[in-house]
Amino acid sequence: MVLREVPVENIARPLGRNEVIGLLFRLTIFGAVTYFTIKWMVDAIDPTRKQKVEAQKQAEKLMRQIGVKNVKLSEYEMSIAAHLVDPLTMQITWRDIAGLDEVITELKETVILPVQKRHLFQGSRLLQPPKGVLLYGPPGCGKTLIAKATAKEAGFRFINLQPSTLTDKWYGESQKLAAAVFSLAVKLQPSIIFVDEIDSFLRSRSSSDHEATAMMKAQFMSLWDGLDTDHHCQVIIMGATNRPQDLDSAILRRMPTRFHINQPSMRQREQILKLILEDESVDLSVNLLDVAKETDGFSGSDLREMCRDAALLCVRDFVHTQSDSPSEDFIRPIHQSDLEKAIGKMKKSKMAGGHSALLHAALD
Ligand SMILES: Nc1ncnc2c1ncn2[C@@H]1O[C@H](COP(=O)(O)OP(=O)(O)O)[C@@H](O)[C@H]1O
Ligand SMILES: [Mg+2]
Repeated sequence: MVLREVPVENIARPLGRNEVIGLLFRLTIFGAVTYFTIKWMVDAIDPTRKQKVEAQKQAEKLMRQIGVKNVKLSEYEMSIAAHLVDPLTMQITWRDIAGLDEVITELKETVILPVQKRHLFQGSRLLQPPKGVLLYGPPGCGKTLIAKATAKEAGFRFINLQPSTLTDKWYGESQKLAAAVFSLAVKLQPSIIFVDEIDSFLRSRSSSDHEATAMMKAQFMSLWDGLDTDHHCQVIIMGATNRPQDLDSAILRRMPTRFHINQPSMRQREQILKLILEDESVDLSVNLLDVAKETDGFSGSDLREMCRDAALLCVRDFVHTQSDSPSEDFIRPIHQSDLEKAIGKMKKSKMAGGHSALLHAALD
């Protein structure tokens, strides 16, 4: 009905030049807006895209640095390769760890040597390097330190696997990524996959687990078993935890080589103090054995924090007594009294946080 009222010549009339240009202009703007909106939406829907590109760049750089050539990696292996550790940039060596000589020697003998001197152990099935190594003990006592030194000194490829790499992504991908961890490690062998705070990732399975989480744990274990079937495979999984009792028993079984890194004893504390204060200006009268005696229950990291406090006392004195004469322009060495003050302060703060400290002691 309505159409009939419109004059026929109006419908059939060809468009004028200006109208065509206007139409084209509007179409172009519409097209551009649609394009950018869709692009923005696709980017918003796929939050991992940027990370993937970054990871790929980082991985390629790292692979070049550690001298890996002619190894083709899948997209997932690339994102894991971004967590490879370049031994040249690692600063920690065995010499930066005090008081743990026994652990280090054992680690060298049972884990590192069988891989480095593989030809010597080839005939023996008993002396094959373990597939799983667990470092456990209270926090701040050197577990991560040992793992870092191993990465530097063993000469293996070292993958520092943050569990979040696997779990942050969308669940469909986390299984592919878990598989990529192992396939990458095999391609780069000899290699170590290090999982710090492994309890957060592979804690005891419970019925309240998300289905996908439970599946990933199961998959991780079956991939791990896959390593075991191949005797020539030189991939070691190393984990560190403050809470071994939280670990899944199936995981514990797969980590037969365990190192207990306990609170340092008095002798160990003395050695740690010596190492921490090695390059500091310390008064000759300072007796580190006395300090070690007074710091019962301190971990390595407590000792370091305590020494830092003592050194800061010297700096504070310097700031307060600063004069213009250049002859006094130096910071005095650390005295026994500074250390004692710092010990007192640390003890107080440990008391304040005593509840959690006790909890750790009970759980450890
Ligand atoms: N045996 C040790 N020798 C030297 N420094 C130590 C030692 N143990 C702990 N520390 C100090 O404490 C810090 C924390 O240690 P870390 O290895 O991270 O502890 P954790 O066992 O919790 O992983 C280290 O960076 C280091 O400065
Ligand atoms: Mg640690």
